[in-house]
Order: sequence, then C-alpha cells, then structure tokens
Amino acid sequence: MISDVDVRAFAPASIQGIVNTWNAAAGDRFPLRERLFRQNTVDDPHFDPAGCAVAVDARTEAVIGFAVAKVARVPLGADGLRADRGWISMLAVTPRYQRRGIGMRLLDAAEAFLRRRGRRRFVLGSDPAHFFPGVPDDPGPLGFFAARGYALRGDAFDLRRPLDAYQTPLVVLQALAANPGVEVRPLRPGEEASLLAFLDATFPGRWRYTVARYLDAGGAIGDIMGIVTRAEVLGFAHLFPPDASWIGPSVAWAMPTDDAPARPGRAGGLGPMGISPAIRGRGLGLVLLDRSVLHLRDAGATEAYIDWTVLLDFYGKLGFAPCRRYRHGERCLAD
Ligand SMILES: CC(C)(COP(=O)(O)OP(=O)(O)OC[C@H]1O[C@@H](n2cnc3c(N)ncnc32)[C@H](O)[C@@H]1OP(=O)(O)O)[C@@H](O)C(=O)NCCC(=O)NCCS
Repeated sequence: MISDVDVRAFAPASIQGIVNTWNAAAGDRFPLRERLFRQNTVDDPHFDPAGCAVAVDARTEAVIGFAVAKVARVPLGADGLRADRGWISMLAVTPRYQRRGIGMRLLDAAEAFLRRRGRRRFVLGSDPAHFFPGVPDDPGPLGFFAARGYALRGDAFDLRRPLDAYQTPLVVLQALAANPGVEVRPLRPGEEASLLAFLDATFPGRWRYTVARYLDAGGAIGDIMGIVTRAEVLGFAHLFPPDASWIGPSVAWAMPTDDAPARPGRAGGLGPMGISPAIRGRGLGLVLLDRSVLHLRDAGATEAYIDWTVLLDFYGKLGFAPCRRYRHGERCLAD
C-alpha cells in the first residue's frame, strides 16, 4: 500500500535519493551518476534549490520523486537571461509510485517556481547545463507531458559510432588538400582569446558562454579542436575524451554507474562544433569531424557520441548513427 507522499523543498541530503529515484525510473537507458547530477545542478550557477522539488514517502522518509526547474541566473552570452522562458530539466517518479498523480504534483511545483520567477513559457530540457535536449522519446514521459498540455513537436538526436574500424575517408583528405594554409588541430594555450573572438563573432550565445565557462573552470584548451588559418580561429569542436573532468552532455549517459553494468568500451564525446560562414561549403566541417574522431580515439575512446543534433546526413557521412531520440516540448501560459 502506498502511504502519504509529501512534496518538499530540495536539501543536499536528498541527492543520493534523487539519483536512486532517477535510476529506478530511467536508469536502464539513462544511467545517472551522482557526479553528473551535481555538476549540472548544485555545482552549476543556474541551479536554484527553490526550483527543485522532492517527493518523499512520509512513512519511510524515502525519496520517491523529484523535479528540477531552472531559470537562467547569469547571462548565456549574447542570449542573455532568456527571460521569456524557464526549463523543466528533469523529473522522475519511482516506478511503484507512478500513475498516482505524484508526477503531476511535482510538475505543479516546478511550474509554480517558474511562474514565481515571471516565466510564462515552460520548456522541456535544453536548459543551461542540460541533461536532455528535449524529452526522451518514450511513451511514459510523452504521455505525461501531453496530458499536461505540453506541445510536443520536432526531434533531436544523439548519435554514436564505434571507433575501432574508423578510417579517414578520401573526401576528408581531398578537402585538406584543397585548403592549403588551413590547419585543423587541437588549440594551444595562448589561443583562448582567438577562440573566444571567433565565438563572439559566430556563435555568441550559449556556445560562447559554455566554452568560456569551461576554460574559466580550468578545462584543457587542447580538448578543443580548432580550424586555424593565419593565427585566426575559424572553427571549433568541443571534445570530451574518456578521462575529461567535465562530463560533456554527449557522454552524460555513456558511462557506467553503481547500478548500471559497465558498458564495454570507453566513450568519448563531441560537440558542440561549428565553423565560420566564411569557410563553409569547402569540406572543412568533415575535416573537423574527422580530426575530432581521431583525437578521441588517440585519447583512448572506443566509441564516440554526439548529442542534440538534427544533422543526420552530415554526421552520417562519417558513420554516426542515431542512438537516442528526443522530442521538443513546451507549454506557454495564455495571456
Ligand atoms: C514521467 C513520469 C515522471 C510520470 O510520473 P507519474 O507519477 O507516473 O505521473 P502521474 O501519475 O502524475 O501521471 C499523470 C498523467 O500523465 C499521463 N501519463 C503518465 N504516465 C503515462 C504513461 N506511461 N503513458 C501514458 N500517459 C501517462 C496520464 O494521463 C496520467 O494520468 P492518469 O494516470 O490518470 O491516466 C514517470 O513516468 C517517470 O519517472 N518516467 C521516467 C523518467 C523520465 O523519463 N522523465 C522525463 C524526462 S526528464
């Protein structure tokens, strides 16, 4: 029998219960490590404990559900605070407590937080320091958010490819030969300012913000693959080798946890990546992807992941295939 359930404010002591709840509800597809949860919540500037609601079985005091809602608390580069929206980052209920209205109570709490912060547009996933680009394409969460009036439309994918048999294709070698004077290589200490100037010019919003935060936190510039010509950075790919201290979103779900059996192989992650409009259409995007894949393999990765993309044809040229699908979802309050 299910006894009373309280919905309470977040406290750090709940973290282990939150992680356990997530892994019981969705750990088979999305195994959550405590380190990832902390990185993307309590250790991130956008986390506000008031936006995290925790459902507790009042009889046992066990955590049996939680929801994380966020608003931007520092500007996301040129995108600023995105004051029109707030995000539902993550929400789960322990399986044996599901279909009893607890998910709805948690969503109520998350939306109430966003309303108190003046937000009228509630977006699923894609938050700063996100876990998901949208909502996982599973009947449970899709049915749940649809029942609450969320519009679910549009896809995003995570992609994967094994690296053992990877070989640089001819088209990449041809593009390199056709672009003399262009270097595609890991960036070096001292090139941070050039990288940020490129991002200011081309990707001044969230990507610029995230790279600057990574560098400020002591992230290795050598894990950013660059396209460099005449000492100017004109393209970048952010890479996450298997031993990177920052868990990139591409490898968020590719690591073993205490509960999930170790996957064979070691995952490396890739993205975001982008190049200047001035040099697009010259094959350099595939060169950047190829060099990134080789860098990850040299660093010990046996498989590479790319997150949050719709460019299946582009990445498919180097053998990446979808491994997870998401839907975009949001609800706007009526005026
Ligand atoms: C999504 C989730 C939190 C729902 O929790 P819950 O406590 O079962 O939700 P509720 O009982 O409040 O459900 C309310 C309504 O949502 C809909 N719904 C919930 N689960 C559903 C399912 N599996 N299929 C279809 N509709 C569903 C129903 O309309 C339901 O009302 P009803 O039970 O009267 O028919 C839960 O399924 C879960 O933890 N899933 C795994 C984690 C996840 O993927 N989270 C989303 C991404 S962050």
